[in-house]
Amino acid sequence: MGQQEAIQFLYEIFDASLPRLGPGNKASTIKAIQILLRAGRTLEKQANTPDLKILDVGCGNGAQTIELAKHFEGTVVALDNHRPFLMELMRRARAEGVADKIRPYEKDMHNPQLDCNSFHLIWSEGSLYVIGFTEGLSVCRDLLVPGGLMAVSELCWLKKAAPAECRRFLADEYPAMTDVPTNLSHIRKCGYDNVGYFVLPEAAWWGDYYTPLEKRLTLLEYRHRKDPQRLEFIKTVKREINIYRRFSDFYGYVFYLMQRG
Ligand SMILES: C[S@@+](CC[C@H](N)C(=O)[O-])C[C@H]1O[C@@H](n2cnc3c(N)ncnc32)[C@H](O)[C@@H]1O
Repeated sequence: MGQQEAIQFLYEIFDASLPRLGPGNKASTIKAIQILLRAGRTLEKQANTPDLKILDVGCGNGAQTIELAKHFEGTVVALDNHRPFLMELMRRARAEGVADKIRPYEKDMHNPQLDCNSFHLIWSEGSLYVIGFTEGLSVCRDLLVPGGLMAVSELCWLKKAAPAECRRFLADEYPAMTDVPTNLSHIRKCGYDNVGYFVLPEAAWWGDYYTPLEKRLTLLEYRHRKDPQRLEFIKTVKREINIYRRFSDFYGYVFYLMQRG
């Protein structure tokens, strides 16, 4: 399979029709909003005005974007580089009655082409790893107004001494993965104050993400039953799910909440 074909197949697996495209759930998004609202005077002052500007980096098909639009007045710029995700996001936003508050923005997050000091809140669920945690924090800091707030969920080690099979798998999948104290120190070094953090519950991995994804993989296994390369690809995604099933005590997604210092 060539590179272009592999990318196309990746999008066939992670289809816009899935409930969401990474671990997370509504309860966790709302919990993160509440922690930030308690901490950030900037956001509190602006929270109920149409002037509030929010950026959702790597928004995908918009599970968290729609929550943000429901929760706040103002505008949410929904940035992603895959048009079908943005189209599905807007379809869902219309169904939920919040489309007028969301601006889909098809861009590469490496070069967002947005004004410095222009957002009160930046959100990124399971996406900032694309440019790297610290690099992403630095890019977003420039886009935030002074005192602006940021929420990022990031894959982290939760316990030391994970079994070798788990360590090997994640070293291949996400070599930059580190632990919570190291990420908290990265956050401070990038010019933010830590406002809080929490580990996403296992339900946030299964409910809207791995369970529907597993169903989709079964369908695709049948569709591509005569295609060994695609079947091998599917096997890799299933392996990722099984690693989490067996070793979820050792790693997880952590939601980090911070304020531009
Ligand atoms: C793991 S998904 C998370 C999506 C969503 N936040 C969620 O939790 O369902 C990562 C998202 O980042 C987007 N993405 C990947 N590379 C990107 C890039 N270079 N620029 C913008 N978006 C990118 C993907 O299209 C995808 O929607």
